[in-house]
Amino acid sequence: MSRGLGDVYKRQVQEDIDHELISKEEISDIINRAAAQASEDYRGKNPLLVCVLKGAVNTLAAFSQAMSIPVQMDFMSLSSYGSGTESSGKITVRQDLSTDVRGRHVLIVEDIIDSGITLAWLVDELKRRRAASVEIFALLEKPARRKVNVDVKYKGREIPDEFVVGFGLDYDEYYRNLDSIAVLKPSVYEGGQA
Ligand code: IMP
Ligand code: MG
Repeated sequence: MSRGLGDVYKRQVQEDIDHELISKEEISDIINRAAAQASEDYRGKNPLLVCVLKGAVNTLAAFSQAMSIPVQMDFMSLSSYGSGTESSGKITVRQDLSTDVRGRHVLIVEDIIDSGITLAWLVDELKRRRAASVEIFALLEKPARRKVNVDVKYKGREIPDEFVVGFGLDYDEYYRNLDSIAVLKPSVYEGGQA
């Protein structure tokens, strides 16, 4: 039987990983706990889940499936220009929502909060568009790197100041399809930018 490209790719992904930081079971636990709480809080409110592309896609999928009330979903792609991995604060909308958020209870579903600059901007923007309420679920937070304050109502897990990949998070657009959260070997970054 021939081995598909997918197998080769998968094996290489495993070779690139230094260590697993959060297992897929723990990710499920974090998401299920937050979704149960949000389902209670938003009962009767028809919330709009807003996913920030691309990193939050896996989190949105798992979170929405774990919710026990009717929800709608929409997607937004944002880019923040800056040097390397630092957000500059200047946010550009690459792809906008297709939903009018006026009067809606919006719950932003995010993969990770780093400086907080992107999310602080998004919260302001959704309020400017007259959403009835705007709250956040963030799977991960790096408190050590926070630059601006954002209120996170549904907290996932705090992690140390390390660059992580998997469950939607990428390095150079790869590793998003890992089902756990992991730290890459330093050799992966050599010759590239983290
Ligand atoms: P910030 O909070 O505005 O600085 O930007 C957060 C965004 O940066 C996240 O939504 C991710 O897309 C990306 N990001 C931050 N830290 C990491 C990481 O460790 N791995 C992968 N992407 C990250
Ligand atoms: Mg993101």
